[in-house]
This record gives sequence, structure tokens and C-alpha cells, in this order.
Amino acid sequence: MKYGIIGAMDLETKLLIEEMQNVTEFQIAGMHFYEGRLSNAEAVVVTSGVGKVNAAACAQILVTKFNVQALINTGVSGALHHDLEVGDIVISTDCMEHDVDVTVFGYKYGIIPRLESSVFIADNELVEKAYAAGVLEITDHKVLKGRIVSGDQFVSSIEKKSFLVENFEAFTTEMEGAAIAHVATINQIPFVIIRAMSDKADGSAHVSFDEFAVESAHHSSKMVINMLK
Ligand code: ADE
Repeated sequence: MKYGIIGAMDLETKLLIEEMQNVTEFQIAGMHFYEGRLSNAEAVVVTSGVGKVNAAACAQILVTKFNVQALINTGVSGALHHDLEVGDIVISTDCMEHDVDVTVFGYKYGIIPRLESSVFIADNELVEKAYAAGVLEITDHKVLKGRIVSGDQFVSSIEKKSFLVENFEAFTTEMEGAAIAHVATINQIPFVIIRAMSDKADGSAHVSFDEFAVESAHHSSKMVINMLK
């Protein structure tokens, strides 16, 4: 199995790239792809840039140019579920794009017209591998499985947070996971999204993000390293 591993920001991929062996670097569409071995698995690690378009372009390059057979996304995100604290982990059961709004034609929020399904289901085997790695690696925080929603917005208000909980029953929100899940699904390959909470997606989100992003991102990366073993 050859894995494509995406982080949006350098702080989300740094540890992984440092851990890799036999690395060859490629530059495509302004992104640096590191192909080699990670935890003795074949892997291509890349920083996509922030947001759904960067993540989707990156994921499709991994599939088309590097022939990866599974996609993993690691990084930080904003906690939505009331049980979640900063530092806790969410592993995707499924993903949706929360900023899709065609409600004027009677669709629910997040539904993409004419697509078979707008709920992208994560691969059960990868979810269980990530969960097992999480339980082993993350001893002082919770590891939950749940829905991850993505949009081109840094969520930092109670109103938006409530909207996401009420309309999507989402556990956490970030800006890339569902785009990667979407690309994996249309290419019929498995995916999982692993996210460590950097903030609570409320008024304090930007301050919390600055303080906890690096540490949380490392936790998420360590889970990826562990699950590939
Ligand atoms: N990534 C980390 N925290 C986030 C938030 N609150 N909203 C969107 N993306 C995030």
C-alpha cells in the first residue's frame, strides 16, 4: 500500500518529513512532494496549503502522478463536540463540506447537487488503525471518532459553531479534510482524516490556535507514524 499523506501547513508535516527515509523530492503546482518510506511503509508526504482547493488539487496530484492507494490527512482543527478539549483527537467517520449552500433550491446545507453523496465515508480499516495508534500514542487526551466538516473559513464564533453542530452534528471543523475525502471518494480509494484540537472554534479560537497548534499537530503526526507501523 502506498500512502499519500497531506498536511495543510508545514507545522503539520514537518515531523513526518523528518521521519522519512530514502526521500526524493518533487515540485508540482508549487507544492513539495516527499516520496520515500515512513514507518517502513511507502509514502508521499506533502504540504498542500490551506483550504479546500489547495487540498483537492494536492490530493488529485497524489492519486494521478504518484499513484497513491490511500489518502491520510493529518493536522489540527477546531473542536465542536461538547466533550472535546484542546489536545483531544478526532478520527473521521465521515466528512462533509459545510460551506456548500444550495438551500435556495431545497437542498440541505452541505449537499452538493447532482453528486451521488455529499457525505464522504472514511475507510473503516484506516479508521481502526488510526484509533489503535491514538489509544497507544495519546495517553493524556481523548481519542474520538466522528464527523469532520470542512469549509474555507476559520471558525471563531459561537454562532457559527452552533450552526455546524445543529446542521451537521459535526465533532470538529477544519479547512481541508472533506476536500481530500471528496477526491478520495471520486477516485475510489480509501481515506482517513486525523485531527488534533488546537482550539474550540469560538471567540478564543485564534489565541488558542497560536498557543496549541504546534503541539497538537505533533500529536496528530505521531499517530500517523504509529498507524503505518
Ligand atoms: N483549524 C484549526 N482550528 C480551526 C478552526 N477553528 N476553524 C477552521 N479551521 C481550523
